[in-house]
Amino acid sequence: MLNFEFENRTKIIFGKKVEEQVGALVSANAKKVLLHYGGGSIKKSGLYDRVINSLQEAGVEYVELGGVVANPRVSLVREGIKLCREEQVDFILAVGGGSVIDSAKGIAAGFYYQGDVWELYMREGTFDECLPIGVVLTIPAAGSESSGGSVVTNEDGLWKRDIGSLKLRPVFALLNPELTYTLPNYQTACGISDMLAHVMERYFTRVIKVDLTDRLAEAIMKSVIKQAHIINQSPDDYDARAEIMWAGTLAHNDLVGTGRQGDWASHGIEHELSGIYDIAHGAGLSIVFPAWMKHVYKSDIPRFAQFANRVFDIEINTMNLEETAIKGIEAMESFYGLIGMPTRLSQVNIDETRFNEMANKATNDGTTTMGSFVPLTKADIMAIFELAK
Ligand code: NZQ
Ligand code: ZN
Repeated sequence: MLNFEFENRTKIIFGKKVEEQVGALVSANAKKVLLHYGGGSIKKSGLYDRVINSLQEAGVEYVELGGVVANPRVSLVREGIKLCREEQVDFILAVGGGSVIDSAKGIAAGFYYQGDVWELYMREGTFDECLPIGVVLTIPAAGSESSGGSVVTNEDGLWKRDIGSLKLRPVFALLNPELTYTLPNYQTACGISDMLAHVMERYFTRVIKVDLTDRLAEAIMKSVIKQAHIINQSPDDYDARAEIMWAGTLAHNDLVGTGRQGDWASHGIEHELSGIYDIAHGAGLSIVFPAWMKHVYKSDIPRFAQFANRVFDIEINTMNLEETAIKGIEAMESFYGLIGMPTRLSQVNIDETRFNEMANKATNDGTTTMGSFVPLTKADIMAIFELAK
């Protein structure tokens, strides 16, 4: 096990009606808040009205900025920074999913930064201070409600890039599983795909003797797969929704990554896809991950066989461990199919036209590698795109 530091300050408040506490929580942290949200699902569901009521009852002043799109754009982040400075906002409340939270984090990081916020995403600048953030989560997926990451797309050049800092972890996150009943099945499945990917990125590691975190990871994956089957049949099953929601947070609050080195190449490759083609992140991952697995599994067959055995209950064939490993990859792929996720680029109308451009972007024109389980060169990434066709 590697040395590590683990810190996660986000206070999670979980369960039915917890969003009613939002006004009191914000008033304990702020004088004037920016209410940040997406394209309208919170207005349709009535959550927007409940949040406003709660803020008003607590006597919190607010300004609002809606319109965050999936794969959030830096132009709105810039608008948010300007608004927060003009209005002397001292807290950001993100009501929505990963895109809204990530946009809020961009605003939070850019608020005190003197240059253009995009410089932070391009590693051309750093920030020490940021505005605090609170979250009312409406989709279990990205884990941004307690992660230190923010992923934003620049329309100019279609670069999707991230920043990460412990300071960006939200102060609180309110998680009511009932708020997820209104999710379209496709978005529920995208969320499931993303949380599984967050665990797998950490699970496939070169670090040995990490039994505890292996088993925590396997428990999350097994449970998510089990609950996904239940939600497929009964989308309004509170307990299954609750398990999935908590799993989404645990998958990415970094507990499972303690003492080990994660890979993150599949995420890196996916960000090139969703940056250019604007597909849902979870759908990009269900395409990239099986292709990545097929490309790299031979470098550590025992780990892939363990994955097959412990996550999908596939019997270990001691005479032919490779066969067990392959069966695990196949099981993963059929699970994606079962929940309605694509596993080939052709299913989301992406052809080879821009493979080279994406592989260049991912590797700084072929000069760097991506990931650590197998450091992928530009040629590896091209091969993964070919496998994903
Ligand atoms: O915009 P609205 O109208 O709210 O609709 C959203 C959006 O269209 C809808 N939705 C959300 N909650 C709903 C709902 N519809 C009905 N009922 C509800 N309760 O769902 C759509 C997708 O929302 P989005 O926020 O984009 O989804 P998600 O949480 O999957 O976030 C994806 C983004 O997070 C980034 C991804 O790259 C992507 O940009 N990630 C962020 C990470 C982080 N910050 O730590 C890590 C991840 O790996 C990921 O990269
Ligand atoms: Zn992700």
